[in-house]
Parts: sequence; structure tokens; C-alpha cells
Amino acid sequence: MCGIVGYIGTEDAKEILLRGLEKLEYRGYDSAGIAIANDKGVHVYKEKGRIASLRDAVDTSEESVVGIGHTRWATHGVPSQLNAHPHQSASARFTIVHNGVIENYEQLRREFLQNVEMVSDTDTEIIVQLVDTFVKDGMSTEEAFRKTLSKLEGSYATALIDNEDRDTIYVGKNKSPLLIGLADGVNVIASDAMAMLQVTNEFMEIEDQEIVIVTRKNVTVKKLDGEGVTRDSYIAELDSTDIEKGTYPHFMLKEIDEQPFVIRNIITKYKDDDDNIKLEESIRQTVADADRIYIIAAGTSYHSGLVGKEMIEKIANIPVETHIASEFLYNMPLLSKKPLFIFISQSGETADLRGVLVNVKKLGHPSLTITNVPGSTLSREADFTLHTYGGPEIAVASTKAYTAQMAVMVILAVDAARARGVEIDFDPLQELGIVANAMEIFTNQKEVLEEVARDYLSVSRNCFFIGRSMDYYVCLEGALKLKEISYIQAEGFAGGELKHGTIALIEEGTPVIGLATQSDVNLNIRGNMKEVVARGAYPCFISMEGCEHEEDKIVMPAVHKFLTPLVSVLPMQLIAYYAALHRGCDVDKPRNLAKSVTVE
Ligand code: F6R
Repeated sequence: MCGIVGYIGTEDAKEILLRGLEKLEYRGYDSAGIAIANDKGVHVYKEKGRIASLRDAVDTSEESVVGIGHTRWATHGVPSQLNAHPHQSASARFTIVHNGVIENYEQLRREFLQNVEMVSDTDTEIIVQLVDTFVKDGMSTEEAFRKTLSKLEGSYATALIDNEDRDTIYVGKNKSPLLIGLADGVNVIASDAMAMLQVTNEFMEIEDQEIVIVTRKNVTVKKLDGEGVTRDSYIAELDSTDIEKGTYPHFMLKEIDEQPFVIRNIITKYKDDDDNIKLEESIRQTVADADRIYIIAAGTSYHSGLVGKEMIEKIANIPVETHIASEFLYNMPLLSKKPLFIFISQSGETADLRGVLVNVKKLGHPSLTITNVPGSTLSREADFTLHTYGGPEIAVASTKAYTAQMAVMVILAVDAARARGVEIDFDPLQELGIVANAMEIFTNQKEVLEEVARDYLSVSRNCFFIGRSMDYYVCLEGALKLKEISYIQAEGFAGGELKHGTIALIEEGTPVIGLATQSDVNLNIRGNMKEVVARGAYPCFISMEGCEHEEDKIVMPAVHKFLTPLVSVLPMQLIAYYAALHRGCDVDKPRNLAKSVTVE
């Protein structure tokens, strides 16, 4: 959560920082600010609300070629102009932006800042006040910055400007993502390369507990004890058009539509010249050798992990448990003798998962990250990575990353099955091709789903999704999509479980969306729907060819039974999208959320 940028070069820093922040708005959007430096000093502009409000507040006549910026998702202190970044030290000499959480800020305040009056309610302010204090004690800015960072517990990606040396940006990182972008006579910093593709595609990673001193001509990396570090740069393979909406009204709609292409891309990337699965031998062996797999994930990725469990158990015959990362972190179950940990994360930055990964590494167990961002923290720190090749996912509500994760997991499952000598007559690459075609039925027929959203959800306060076996997991995802972007109270339930309590919530007209793609439980889920209809529910069935009944509103083309979630989720994504649109909600940036959850 929160995104930071920095620029030191020769062009208008304000505009570059603002454009960079617009690209990072997915990381938080409750307030934003920039600080720019020129020969008159350091000028701070900050506003509650979106970058658009900040843009209006910036004094366009103030010229500058150096600056830092921040877009915020509040952790400590309510969203307000006061708590927005940048923050300044009491002397106004130092100005800082920060992404992360400083866990020991109260203690540091008591220890070092008894006589300093804090202006904001944020944990961030502690950093800038400490630097100021240590400089007043006689240290250089660099020494004070390193000393400050060595005292911090928690996570930070931070950038600092010194009013007495306005041609340097001091950067530090621990746990929160941060990159340095390099160009000729220009250097930049960003939480995500996307923000600075406008300037360069050459980036350098910073490791935890390192600082970087960035000037126009030089980038110097050091450890917190001052020892120098050499680091190579890399070219980010990102196309700036991937992060534009093009003719789409919303990123979410664009990303829903991209799903067939993403699946075809995955087929290509995971296929060798003989049309077999292409996967590193070391990954194959690690998966095949595990006596139990622990899938760790959060939110939508957790929902894909539930489907992944079914795939791996049923195809490869390996027991799998899927866990919510934040629960696993503090309540670890008994582990098997040869566990493998699979971390599923679109962003590769989710703090809850990283906490588990750190513990798992301490225990010496192997780890594999399935992610859309290969250079991300979880990807770098796990033993292995599988890329989901989804392209940047910008809308806060995840869509294409979910289906891509499941596509990669089915390939992994079949590969492991073959390595273990399990007989299977299932070609995942071929079946995924059929999935991609089936997805297109929905991306080409949006009117039907817009009509369902209008008919069922225009005035409803709540909505239930019911399904059995694999369909149940998709119902959890369908409900999450609906609630996060339309704010309609929605719950996904196992069809047979409703009558054990939740059925009490069914009233005259309550929308109930039933999913029926599993032939072995088709009659059961239809029976469960009858139970709610008898109590006044307004039913809508989404089914699959072969399972369809006359009353079904939507019938998807038949796909392999292990792959139904990849297709059946599309109508749910589109229903959620149109429900949110009809209610006038901000589809791409729902309230209270952020795309990359880098705090626990
Ligand atoms: C919901 C959504 C979230 C994320 C969750 C984990 O649409 O996107 O529930 O799935 O925050 O994020 P990642 O996958 O980046 O670890």
C-alpha cells in the first residue's frame, strides 16, 4: 500500500512525479503529495483525495527538476491533508515520503524525540524527525539517514530530500518494494517500474536494509553500516501501452476481456517445441517429491488456491492444504515431513504471504511463488517462481490474475502427476485452448450480463452465490468481486450449507446466483436453489452445457471438469462490473482498498 516516486534530472519534476503517481494510484488513493526542490527551497503540496485533487493544488509556476511524491493508503492516522505525505522535520530541513509501517515508532519517539513536537498522526514522521535530530547531534545527512533506518523495525520504502543539498535524494528500503530507474543524466525512484516507464526502462533493484544515494549522475548503493554494494541493472520488459486503458472505460473491463489472450499466452510460454509442458526440472522434482503442499494466499489469490488444491490433489495425487496467509502466519498447523510451500500472489508483494515465506525459509522448507510480477519480493525470496504472464493488472479488483493463476496450477499439477508416474489422459495445454475460446463467449456477449446485473442487483442490498465442489470456490470469488466494487453485501456459500443457518437471511426477492457446472452435484445444487426459492429468493442459474436446465439464465460452453472455474468466473466478474457501474461506483478504485497490500 502507498506508492512512492522520485525524480532528479533536467525536466519538469512536478509533471513527471504527478504522472508517476497516477500510475501508482492503485497502491492507495486516499491522499497524495509531492515535494519539489528549486533554488528557493523545498515546496510541499499535499491533498486529501485522488491525484487529480493534488494536480489542482500544485503551483504550476514553481519550476523544479528534483522531487519526491507519494500516494497514500492510510495505516496510522486518518486520510487527511495533515497526514498526507511528504512530511517535514521540525526544522523543515528534511522532507520525506514513506511506504510501509514503522512498528516501533512509539518507542523511538520516547527514546529520541521527547522534545520534538509531532505534527501528524503518522508513523512516518518519526523517520524524518530522527534524521533531523541525528544531524543536529553532528552527523552528516547520510550518516543520520543510515542510523535512523537501522533503528526502524517494520517495513519501509522511503525517499528523503535535504533542503541544504537539493541535488540528492536519499533512498532506503526494507520489505516494501522500491526500484531505482537509470537514464542518461536522469535518475528516478519508484515503488513499481510502471510509474517511471515514462522516463526509462532500465531499473536496478534495492535489497532490504540498503540505502541508495541518488544524484543526477550517480547512484550509490550502500548497506546500513556504510559498506558499498555493486548492483547490476536490468531492462524492464513492460510495454507502456499495457498500462493504458485504451478505448476501455475501465481497466477492470479491459482486464476481463484480456483473459482469453492471457490463457493463450500461458499455453505458449509453458509449451516446448514438441507441444509438451515446459517447466524447469528442479520445479518438477520439488513438486513431485513433496508429501504435502501448503498453498498460502490472500483474497482472490486464496480463492484460486482453493481451486488449485482440487487440481493438484485430483490430478497429481498429492495432498494439499490451502491457507489464508494472515492466519497461517500466527497459527501454523502441524506440518508434514516433506512439505512444499506454494505462494500465490498477483503482486508478489503481499506482506501476509511474505511473513509466512520468511518463517518457512527459517524452517528450511522449499518454496515456490506463482506470481504476475517475477521481480517482486515473493518471487525473489522463494526458491522458485512460476510466472502467470498476465501483463500488468491495474484495476484493484483482480480478474485476469485469478484465471491465470489457475491455468498455471493445472499445468503444474499435470507435470507433477507425470513426474510421479500417475496415469492421466488430460492435456492441460489443449484443454486451456478450449477454455480460452469459451471465455470469449462471455467477453463477446456482455449485454446479457449487463441485463442480469440490472435485473437482479439494481436495488438489492444483498446477494448470495451458491455452488458445490469446484463451483463453491468460484462462488466465493463471485461474491468477493461483487462486494468489493459494488458494496452490495454478498456471500458465497456451499449449496448444502445454507440451510444450516444462512437461509434465515433469504427474504422475498433476495437474489441468489447458483452455479451448476459440476455434473455429479448438479441435482443437489438445483435442490438447494429450490429450498431458497421456496422462501422467496430470486434465482439466477449459471450452468454449463451438459448440466443445463431450461430455466438457466446463462449457459457456458463445456470445458474440462478441472477447468470450469476459469470460465464460470467470467459471468460473475461481468455481473459485478455492471452492478458497480449501475450504482455509480468507482469500479477501478473501490473505497478503502489498495491493489498491493504491503502491510500485515
Ligand atoms: C480482490 C483482490 C485481493 C487480492 C489480495 C491478494 O479482487 O485483488 O483480494 O487478491 O489482496 O493480493 P495478491 O494476489 O497480490 O497477493
